[in-house]
Amino acid sequence: MKFVLVLSIVAAVVIVYAQVEEYGKCGGQGYSGSIACVSGYFCQYQNQWYSQCVPGAVTTLITTKTSHTNTVTSALPSSSSTKTPVPGTYVKTKGLKFTIDGVTKYFAGTNSYWIAFLTNNADVDLVLDHMITSGLRILRIWGFNDVNTIPGSDTVYFQYLSAGTATINTGANGLQRLDYVVKAAEARGMKLIINFVNNWNDYGGINAYVNAYGGSKTSWYTNTAAQGQYKAYIKAVVSRYITSTAIFAWELGNEPRCNGCDTSVIYDWATSTSQYIKSLDSNHLVTLGDEGFGLPGDGSYPYTYSEGVDWIKNLGISTLDFGTFHLYPSSWGTTNEWGNSWITTHAVACQAAGKPCLFEEYGITLASDKCSVEGKWQNTSLATTGIAGDLFWDFGDTISSGKTSDDGNTIFYNTADWTCLVTNHVKAIG
Ligand SMILES: *[C@@H]1O[C@H](CO)[C@@H](O)[C@H](O)[C@H]1NC(C)=O
Repeated sequence: MKFVLVLSIVAAVVIVYAQVEEYGKCGGQGYSGSIACVSGYFCQYQNQWYSQCVPGAVTTLITTKTSHTNTVTSALPSSSSTKTPVPGTYVKTKGLKFTIDGVTKYFAGTNSYWIAFLTNNADVDLVLDHMITSGLRILRIWGFNDVNTIPGSDTVYFQYLSAGTATINTGANGLQRLDYVVKAAEARGMKLIINFVNNWNDYGGINAYVNAYGGSKTSWYTNTAAQGQYKAYIKAVVSRYITSTAIFAWELGNEPRCNGCDTSVIYDWATSTSQYIKSLDSNHLVTLGDEGFGLPGDGSYPYTYSEGVDWIKNLGISTLDFGTFHLYPSSWGTTNEWGNSWITTHAVACQAAGKPCLFEEYGITLASDKCSVEGKWQNTSLATTGIAGDLFWDFGDTISSGKTSDDGNTIFYNTADWTCLVTNHVKAIG
């Protein structure tokens, strides 16, 4: 928004030049080249000196006049609060790949669980700008934030669960924060994976339902009252964005596990929940959000069925459009190198199922090895048929309140690891 206020619109221009390549420079003070980007990209204003071709549809071109120089030509800045959304399309699967706004290829993205919990719109705009201008097209976020005690009014929460009752917070510190993220994503052509519940206790999760409805984390999947409210929450979120082209997919849960359960428990829950979401919204993809456990492999812990997940059986659910899997060797007692076979083993199942799979989270905490280890995983993923994209865990940046959360895995914008795992990876994807 701040850019729009200082620009004065002189005239609309249409200039025919050679098209600027993906992520190429297309404007800025003193620039005299083409302002037209190749198909699927538009010229986005970055600052006075630099505009860049970024993914998305073309927006209004304007010329701007500065006080003592000639006119410079640039696209409207990507400020979601002042700009008409980029006309996008719904994300689809196509064979073993995804199609985003007409482009079918491998896509890179990231995770930012906290973005809908920010209270400052400018921070949301900033981080989305940094992601999209770096070539990341998929952003996975938490669409849940469950509490058993109502926090202060400046703390964001989405659902209050207590003693068998629930209140969905649609206020300014509730789902309106998610609304802003969706709107800001729409304006930039970013596609969001929105998740509905956490297996872990962070931001409430299944545990917050257990506190309100009784039972346990494993009986949650079949607890009628808890499932009724989980579906009511899903409906409240999905209904807000049924026609938004910023939604990549709805996701049932973050890393759902049912330790020691028969795999039919999660299978039945995933079947019924995904059918329910499809009945509400036929525009968007639906996925599970699990870690990828439970499939034939080398017999190491992640391949076992002990967490109640049968990955291949779940991939066969017709109302799940694609598969997900994660990779954390240090938490699973495997080696980093083992991660490459974890990726290719999943790909074989994706090929057999005829559905794309998303390498949805991965990370290591040893700072010195991130580029070599995760870079190799990315290369393996990109080279393997059946894996349609990857999202590293997780995105870090500096916002108005300072540095964002760092869990040790975090890759911060504009660092050497960012160059390795984002800039170079996006270039390699092409
Ligand atoms: C990944 O592949 C690129 C070439 O596309 C190469 O430059 C890079 O070194 C590879 N990274 C690793 C860690 O193997």
